[in-house]
Amino acid sequence: MKRIGMLTSGGDCQALNAAMRGVVKCLYTSGEQVEIFGFLSGYKGLIKSDFKMLTGDDFSGILTKGGTILGSSRVPFKTIDEPDEEGNNKVECMKHTYHKLNLDCLVILGGNGTHKTANRLRTEGLNVITLPKTIDNDLWGTDMTFGFQSAVDIATDVIDCIHTTADSHGRVFIVEVMGHKAGWLTLNAGMASGADIILIPEIPYSIDCIIEAIRRREKRGSKFTILAVAEGAISKEDAKLSKKEYKKKLEKMKHPSVSYEVADAIAEKTGLEVRVTVPGHMQRGGSPCPYDRVFASRLGAEAGKLILKGEYGFMVGYKDREIVRVPLEDVAGKLKLVSPDATIIKEAKMLGISFGDE
Ligand code: F6P
Repeated sequence: MKRIGMLTSGGDCQALNAAMRGVVKCLYTSGEQVEIFGFLSGYKGLIKSDFKMLTGDDFSGILTKGGTILGSSRVPFKTIDEPDEEGNNKVECMKHTYHKLNLDCLVILGGNGTHKTANRLRTEGLNVITLPKTIDNDLWGTDMTFGFQSAVDIATDVIDCIHTTADSHGRVFIVEVMGHKAGWLTLNAGMASGADIILIPEIPYSIDCIIEAIRRREKRGSKFTILAVAEGAISKEDAKLSKKEYKKKLEKMKHPSVSYEVADAIAEKTGLEVRVTVPGHMQRGGSPCPYDRVFASRLGAEAGKLILKGEYGFMVGYKDREIVRVPLEDVAGKLKLVSPDATIIKEAKMLGISFGDE
């Protein structure tokens, strides 16, 4: 008999349900007796011992379902040692829930912050297996996270739609893409949809370089320009500021996000008509794409295998086209960002895409 706790933490994304289903299907298929404790709203459920017992039926029909059947929330790692709203020690509460329920392990699905807490629980002696979710694809130790491909599809669709309007009206269009501090989503959606300029956090931009790229297109007879701009894109000047200084500057910014700053600067310097589209949380929503369904199921199956073998302390990831296990202590606290020297960046530049840097 295995007693397994499961939770989904942080921003939701597509294929969370597919991944949990994968774990549970693997366990049931093996013939092992299992009891599954589904903690509600991420770590909050574990802290407050708020859970529901789940059976195979709960995982039936959820392969294609977006969101998470367990609900999610953010419990920032930096506050993990601060008492919760009732004055309780969060880490001690989580340990207490785990031991009280006599769990064999926790299966935790999440991104960067989630992995820091998962690793903390591991160091506190709990058995933990994690699965890498996030549309940002910025988790260290895995080439891919589930949710990413689905989000690429959505952001690509948005830019595709904008293309026709940009063409009809001869305007400059900016589509702001999610991704937090990483440019993976913008880079991939931008390339997939034929964006002319791609701005990502890892390659600081200059407005003058962006305008030169627009002018080059005009000279070639193009009536419109499309920019895919990562929500975390940063100018060369701002990249020189300290974290603290930049945070202060953002707080004082008159616009809700960097895309509007870029739009204003382009309009001011060129007199061109510029429009901004922000698909926002749409990018995390809806049914997972086929790739993510398969990928998340494979990760789930491997997690199931580790549980059956009693091997804990790993994130199940993906490296060089293989499903792999990566020690949690190696993953926690590290970001996987786009390297400005990556081959894909060079190839994009060879295709004439500007990153606003030269
Ligand atoms: O990490 C996923 C993500 O969607 C990021 O791309 C984005 O910066 C952030 O979450 C948005 O967070 P929230 O859902 O809390 O607004």
